[in-house]
Order: sequence, then structure tokens, then C-alpha cells
Amino acid sequence: EPLEIVAALEDFFAVDMPLAGRHALVTSGPTYEPIDPVRYIANRSSGKQGHAIAEALANLGARTTLVSGPTYLSYPLGVDVVTVESAKEMMAACEAALPADIAVCAAAVCDWCVEEKSPEKLKKNGGGGVPALLLAETPDILATISASRATRPKLVVGFAAETENVIDNAKAKLSNKGCDWIIANDVSMASGVLSGDENTVHLITETESEDWPTLSKWEVGVRLARRIALSFSDGSGSGSVGS
Ligand code: C5P
Repeated sequence: EPLEIVAALEDFFAVDMPLAGRHALVTSGPTYEPIDPVRYIANRSSGKQGHAIAEALANLGARTTLVSGPTYLSYPLGVDVVTVESAKEMMAACEAALPADIAVCAAAVCDWCVEEKSPEKLKKNGGGGVPALLLAETPDILATISASRATRPKLVVGFAAETENVIDNAKAKLSNKGCDWIIANDVSMASGVLSGDENTVHLITETESEDWPTLSKWEVGVRLARRIALSFSDGSGSGSVGS
């Protein structure tokens, strides 16, 4: 879109790279949790939002590591990409990528995995019996990064994909996960966010809540990256959303 071209040109020719010297870690896409060699459980996620954020941070000069679950997207320019499948692999890749100054956890990580995946393809037994899957919790990557002591990034940003009470649930998530900012969005089927190109988000910190207009996911990435750069330029690196 024309606005995206203008913003990309502005970033390309920017003499000032406000995030130069910073390392940003971004998670994106879904995770696949295997049931057997051919089946898995997953969350719906295109990875569009996380990839856009990674590209926007790189455009502002940050060395950017994108840890991505399976998507059909091409890799963003100027970004180091690590591809993973499961939440466990995503956790390990993030830990290997730390330390970072900024972490943005945009991935739709599956909350549960199958406790014991079958080494062979499960077979229908023909008698109507179905396998019972015992689920276990996956590691919470956002909460783990937020709680890490020696390697905690100065600014940790999480996402709250909600289908109801978007702002209240996002505020609760901010304190439960221990992150600095939450980007909250409505992902109910009616919103069309999950597979679409647009997003309507709210930026929530401990003290502020800001409603952004409906933007393309690419523009949300650019705006968030600029906000992050602003929070580093005032020396705080977290907390305040700036103006
Ligand atoms: O708990 P919930 O999935 O709603 O939280 C969403 C936020 O937490 C997102 O930022 C997501 O990337 C992150 N998350 C994570 N690891 C999980 C579950 C969610 O990093 N296992």
C-alpha cells in the first residue's frame, strides 16, 4: 500500500537509527504440538503481525532475531530467523537468543501439548473407540522471559488475543505474565483478525491504556517499533508509553 511504501522509504533513508546497537527478540506464528508423526494441535495464527514487528524493529536499526513457528510467510528482510515447531523448541530458541534489550512475544503459542506423543501414526480401530489425549502445559515463554533475572530484556511486550472483555483480560495478563506492555486485540471470528491483514489493538501498560485505530498489521508493526524506540530514547526502556 502507498502508506507502507512511504514508511519503508522513511525508515530506509533515516539517518538516525534509534535502535542501533540494540538486540530485539520477536516470537511469531503458531506452534505445532505433535500427537503422532502426522497429526498436531495448534492455534490459528498467520504470523503476519509478529513478522511485521520484527521487520519494523530491524528497519529502526535493531539486530533482530525472529523465532517463528510454521507459517507460509517469506522471511522479513534484515532479520535473523530461527524456525521452530513446538512451544518447547520456541522456548529453547528464545533462551539461546538472549540476552536482548527488547522482547516482543507475538507468537500464538499452544498452551497445551500431548504428554506422550505416539512414535507411530495412531490407527482407527474400526470399533468406534477413539484415543484419549492426555495434555500437559507448555512452557510460558513470555512469563519465563519476563521473570528471567540476569537476562531479562529491559522491555518485554506480550500480546493478549481475546474474544471478550479485551481490555480487562489484557490488564490481568500484564500482571500475571510480568511483562511491561501488552498489545491487546479482539480475535473473535467476527473481527477477522486471525487470518486478515488488519488489526485493531490497544497498548496497555501498568498506568496507561491507549486505543489505536484500525491499521494494517504492517502499520501496527511500524507504530509499535517507533514506540519502543521512543521508550529507549527517554532512557527508561520500559513502562511509559511515551507520547
Ligand atoms: O496466556 P495467553 O496465551 O493468552 O498469553 C498470550 C501472550 O503470552 C502472548 O504474548 C504469547 O506470545 C505469550 N505466550 C507464550 N508462551 C505460552 C503462551 C503464551 O509466550 N506458552
